[in-house]
Amino acid sequence: MREKLEAIKQEILEKVGAIATVAELHDLRVQALGKKGSLTMVLRDMGKLPAEERPVMGKLANTVRAAIESAITEREEQLAAREMEQKLAEEAIDVTLPGVRPKRGKLHPLTQTLNKIIDIFTGMGFSVVEGPEAETDYYNFTALNMPAHHPARDTQDTFYFTEDIVLRTATSPVQIRTMEKVKPPLKILAPGRVYRSDSVDATHSPIFHQVEGLVVDKGISMGDLKGVLDVFAKEFFGPKTQTKFRPHHFPFTEPSAEMDITCYVCGGKGCRVCSGTGWVEILGAGMVHPNVLKYGGVDPEEYSGFAFGVGLDRITNGLFSIEDIRLLFENDIRFLSQF
Ligand code: DAH
Repeated sequence: MREKLEAIKQEILEKVGAIATVAELHDLRVQALGKKGSLTMVLRDMGKLPAEERPVMGKLANTVRAAIESAITEREEQLAAREMEQKLAEEAIDVTLPGVRPKRGKLHPLTQTLNKIIDIFTGMGFSVVEGPEAETDYYNFTALNMPAHHPARDTQDTFYFTEDIVLRTATSPVQIRTMEKVKPPLKILAPGRVYRSDSVDATHSPIFHQVEGLVVDKGISMGDLKGVLDVFAKEFFGPKTQTKFRPHHFPFTEPSAEMDITCYVCGGKGCRVCSGTGWVEILGAGMVHPNVLKYGGVDPEEYSGFAFGVGLDRITNGLFSIEDIRLLFENDIRFLSQF
């Protein structure tokens, strides 16, 4: 029995040394120490031994079991550590590797300009509203003090859907739509696309953009108009910018004016952009005509207001030194990615 025990110990310890995985080691433990394991089998025969030998063999069997147990446990720890290391190495993620950089989008120059304008006017308490691009003759002309057969209708080459429905030729109809809905005091900005049947060249496009402004309250004067638009010009084009108001005519304002600013390219010295004058015209404005207030449902005896209309495309091109309006509409990524 002694030899058998020694042989089992020897055999198992050798196997332990050769085993390469934790799973195999578990099998070996069962093989040696399990219910039907080799050591267990040998110990079954214990009863056949003479009584005096039994304690001695019992002791020996215990040391063999302990030796096998500790060898297996030790090997198990080694293997578990090795397996863990291997797993970590295989599954490692190099967090220092640079990722795939997403392509950065840009805002269209027109959007950048509009956002800047909206920022300035919302800072003065204006809110932004929009109106439809397909507009009725009434809102586009009549309610803006251009009744049927008014000569001003001819100066705007209008796209007609029907006799009564047009593509709006300006953002001004939003003035009427707003006054109908909102009681004064009101301060609104209405950006949007407008349409005229112009032939296309470097400075003309049948589709372009305007930003309309309207202020209606008690006691609004030309001084308010000049003050607000002067602040706008200085915020938009820089604090040294000067403004100048020239008398003009629009059917929907009285009096009417155009605002010039000192040239944003040369600062007023005279250059190609300002044709050597030092000034560039940037918007039309005026005191809202009493008829227009009436069309909007506002009593001109109680309220007055001023309005203005800025050509977004023109000042965008000025600001970014873009020489051809068509570039704003072609959506050429090589062009757009420059801004
Ligand atoms: N509607 C004018 C245009 O298209 C621009 C304009 C001028 C708008 C004066 C206004 C204004 O509100 O008061 O040329």
